[in-house]
Amino acid sequence: MEKIQVTIDGPAGAGKSSVSKILAQRLGYVYIDTGAMYRTLTYSAIKEKVDFSDIDSIIKLLTSIEINFGLDQETGTQKVFCNDQDVTDLIRSPEVNQKVSIIAAILEVRNIMVLRQREIAQNNNVVMDGRDIGTVVLPNAKYKFYLTASLEERAKRRAKELEAKGYKIDLEKLIVEIKTRDNMDTQREYSPLKPASDAIIIDSSKINLEQVIGSIINYIKEDD
Ligand code: C5P
Repeated sequence: MEKIQVTIDGPAGAGKSSVSKILAQRLGYVYIDTGAMYRTLTYSAIKEKVDFSDIDSIIKLLTSIEINFGLDQETGTQKVFCNDQDVTDLIRSPEVNQKVSIIAAILEVRNIMVLRQREIAQNNNVVMDGRDIGTVVLPNAKYKFYLTASLEERAKRRAKELEAKGYKIDLEKLIVEIKTRDNMDTQREYSPLKPASDAIIIDSSKINLEQVIGSIINYIKEDD
């Protein structure tokens, strides 16, 4: 049977992963956080001290690591593994935040990631979130959404998330960092961040998580 694909793209901090996680649970689909894949490679490159401008070494590293998702049985939260190491929290560090868009701009990296992402979507009903899912990875997906919010709102949400993990956050600095990452993601040559022409755009600046999920589920139900 043909698999159903729901794509959620958008800039940093728009709430894509929170929305996608719950949406996947409610629909009974597999949730794939493609940002976590780029983050895991970035984390590994930092750890292995690979030069970010040395594309051959980055690709060698990528082909030598296995990036897997798993569920924490106790809490029901999603875990990210690099080979056997649990990197769920490590890939959200400020250093990875700063460097991930450099890695994500490399065409050869994207080509490999896209193949891995398509393979997962071929075998499962998925909710997949990222930057290029509706445009490049799954252009024929049945349901496409583009989630956005004002820069200030996104920065505040990210700050809350990071503070909950124990990081001390300077909001002004975070705004600059998110803006820089958005600029790199929207202006890069390959697969830049943009809404697919057939995506439904949802601005979550003034609505909460439940309302976003509710409107997505309504679109999906209306279409059924
Ligand atoms: O979604 P998240 O903020 O975790 O993504 C981290 C970074 O990974 C993004 O800023 C972007 O540079 C890159 N990314 C991408 N394509 C995707 C998902 C993430 O380029 N599909």
